[in-house]
Amino acid sequence: MGNNEKKWWQNAVVYQIYPKSFQDSDGDGYGDIRGMISRLDYLKDLGIDAVWISPMYCSPQDDNGYDISDYQDIDPMFGTLADMEELIREADRRGIKIIMDLVLNHTSDEHRWFQEAAKGKDNPYHDYYVWRDGEEGVYPNDMKSTFGGPAWEWVPELKQYYFHQFSVKQPDLNWENPKVRREIYDMILWWMDKGVGGFRLDVIDQIAKEPDLGITNNGPRLHEFLRELSRETFQKGNLITVGEAWGATPEIAKKYSNPDGSEFSMVFQFEHMVMDQQEGKEKWDLAPLPFVKLKKCLEKWQNELYGKGWNSLFWDNHDLPRIVSRWGDGGTYRVQSAKMLAVILHGMQGTPYIYQGEELGMTNVRFDSIEDYRDIETLNMYYDRLEAGYDKDEIMASVYAKSRDNARTPMQWSAEKNAGFTKGTPWLGVNPNYVEINAEDERKDPNSVWQFYRRLIRLRKEYPVFTDGKFKLLLPEDEQIFAYTRTDEEAELLVCANFTGETASCTLPAKWQDSEILLHNYEGVLQKELRPYEAVILLRKTAQGKGLC
Ligand code: GLC
Repeated sequence: MGNNEKKWWQNAVVYQIYPKSFQDSDGDGYGDIRGMISRLDYLKDLGIDAVWISPMYCSPQDDNGYDISDYQDIDPMFGTLADMEELIREADRRGIKIIMDLVLNHTSDEHRWFQEAAKGKDNPYHDYYVWRDGEEGVYPNDMKSTFGGPAWEWVPELKQYYFHQFSVKQPDLNWENPKVRREIYDMILWWMDKGVGGFRLDVIDQIAKEPDLGITNNGPRLHEFLRELSRETFQKGNLITVGEAWGATPEIAKKYSNPDGSEFSMVFQFEHMVMDQQEGKEKWDLAPLPFVKLKKCLEKWQNELYGKGWNSLFWDNHDLPRIVSRWGDGGTYRVQSAKMLAVILHGMQGTPYIYQGEELGMTNVRFDSIEDYRDIETLNMYYDRLEAGYDKDEIMASVYAKSRDNARTPMQWSAEKNAGFTKGTPWLGVNPNYVEINAEDERKDPNSVWQFYRRLIRLRKEYPVFTDGKFKLLLPEDEQIFAYTRTDEEAELLVCANFTGETASCTLPAKWQDSEILLHNYEGVLQKELRPYEAVILLRKTAQGKGLC
């Protein structure tokens, strides 16, 4: 395939499923594969092309499946391997590809490799992980785990520490060991044989760590490892591959997503998603969103990757709070602001990702007590901060704003008990607003957020300028308006949105005055003022082209 040839995934829209919370079929309170199969028609109707499913491999669920104890089997909570094969087949029948979540930085401590590795320094699996000799209580260095506490765990029998960037139950794999890499490639090829359509690579920028130098992300051998991984596996199929990389800059992202296909299809980076926190502090240390900075950040990524790489477009995933509560308005203007955020995101260049429930405008949750939360990161932070003397209300304010459980409450299918998610007791509470916000009602309502997403997805398929067009930010310093154009030889789009709950003055340049409205989240003609969260996509056909496929 030539470098400049359009790849199928450039025009695709991906939907992310968090399996525990999507659809339960057997009443145990956990979502499962049979539940997913029963909802494939819903996804087909929405118009998506691929589904990324968070991990369903065997796992003790210390980090909800991101701690894998067997990569080649399905956790009984979700079903069986046969169910998985059926899901792949049934999805395929509807033209939907299944993207598996690959966690290659670490395994569970209950994985056979680690159990073996911990038996002795001369065990053949010992070197699959990262160990340092030492003395109890004297850590090799002061590196911290992302989920709190030291990144080192003492194993008295070996008089050694093992390294874990996440929980103690997620020991880091040693990518320096070629045997580890080979095991991983064989496992990936095995899944490719089963017909999966792609992979999402969890915290992939952390695999080439150098703990002695304090390096976690972007280690010196990272891209060497990735090129080998890609060559040995992905390049043998026409897959979509997406690397999660918190620490990527556009320069680094061009390596991950080089159009020559030597690493991944695209990068999933978070620079635009970490702005509403205090400089140099943690995500829990809340700060207002610097709107102009957000626009400039998105502009930078649009322009720098143009023709040189490929980005994912997202506001939400299973690690982030719900966007409508975060940067829109979860109350009065919930519907308008959810649509506005969708317009801004889907109008840009890249592959859009819709996280389950985002297409309904699902909101953050506010459980009364910390006891109702399940996420390890949230719980560890809560108790650490309590011990450090933080005020309980302040901690809860952070939880309400940023807890990963905001995104993990069960999918709201209907106004039935438990939102139609389960007949049993859900593993995590359902957001009580399911009575007003649910898929069944939204599919019937022509003005719903769901219908709007559906139209947006169809527009992307209909007008190539969404995929190809060059981006130009307008009104960069405006504190309320987010506006940009996208242009190719045939057509020009104008995306113009009021990002706030106040009216905003905005006079469109004359050439846009009689243009075609492709999508608009309010009734009626555009005024010189945009109403709260008003957003529109306009189309002009350029002299040469018709603007249509
Ligand atoms: C990624 C996942 C997150 C998980 C972590 C460790 O960031 O998205 O859910 O906790 O990696 O695997």
